[in-house]
Amino acid sequence: MDKLIIDTDPGVDDSMALQFALASKEFHILGITTVFGNVDIEQTTKNALRILHLAQRADIPVAKGASKPVYGEFLGGVPFVHGDDGQGNTWRPAGPLKPIDIGAEEFIIEQVLRYPNQVRLAALGPLTNLARALEKKPEIQDKVKEVVFMGGNAFCPGNATPAAEANMLSDPEAADRVLGANWPMTMVGLDVTHKTLLSRDTLNKISLFRSPLNDFVMEAYQFYQDFFMKANKIDGTFVHDSSVFAYLIDRSLYKTVEYPIRVETQHSISRGKTWPSLGETDHEGAKALEPWRNRPKIKICLDVEDKKVIQLLEQRLMQ
Ligand code: BDR
Ligand code: CA
Repeated sequence: MDKLIIDTDPGVDDSMALQFALASKEFHILGITTVFGNVDIEQTTKNALRILHLAQRADIPVAKGASKPVYGEFLGGVPFVHGDDGQGNTWRPAGPLKPIDIGAEEFIIEQVLRYPNQVRLAALGPLTNLARALEKKPEIQDKVKEVVFMGGNAFCPGNATPAAEANMLSDPEAADRVLGANWPMTMVGLDVTHKTLLSRDTLNKISLFRSPLNDFVMEAYQFYQDFFMKANKIDGTFVHDSSVFAYLIDRSLYKTVEYPIRVETQHSISRGKTWPSLGETDHEGAKALEPWRNRPKIKICLDVEDKKVIQLLEQRLMQ
């Protein structure tokens, strides 16, 4: 079983991703760390706790994390995508669970040092907590087994802006630091999540499975689905955050390439864009271009067996 810390900003699709991970025997979830993102940190933390309550998994600790990016302020998130409560305006009461006393970055550091080279970090939101943990204890980069994050767009347009994906745009400086650290990393970005469609028909089928957690997530999905219908004219939703767990469960479903990545941190129309380099050498005999020089190679998911991912997700959500 893979020891996992899930860093998340629930978020409707984060909630489904948590449901997916909780239903998967491949993972031993050491804890959940929360971050601002889709909505503010108070709400994302409440939402993570509610998911665990509904799943009857009070044994999994939740550590509350960053309320704003490493520079600047939280700008209000994306309530038009996820609802004002981040859960499709379902407005369920907060459950009885509470966060633990230490914060997200301390929790990450503590667990990584306790289990050297065993912990994978699955990041489903802005990379602020990871950047702060790295800043506080740089040595964790040699002790984390792997970082797999949902975010970025290597060879396709963004979703938050024409250039950038939402998680990267929420904290580009943090993302650029995390993507420059010396730990094994995989980017599960829009290159694959925009190829993976959870159709309304499949969602209707999943809704037939009754459990407190599934009922809640399916209710929240109504709002999320309406957003995709309005914004993307699709009858279903793209599979963003759950794709991280599909990748961790079965890597053969994804085709990857490896490049160093820089994140645009200028306050320009391209802010938050993830730029892969052209590779080791940009042309024969030339050295790697300066901004990417000495940066680690990151596995970038480029293609996906989308139908198999949907089958896997459907099967796990319905158990
Ligand atoms: C990402 O942005 C958030 O809105 C989703 O939860 C996902 O993590 C997709 O771009
Ligand atoms: Ca998310």
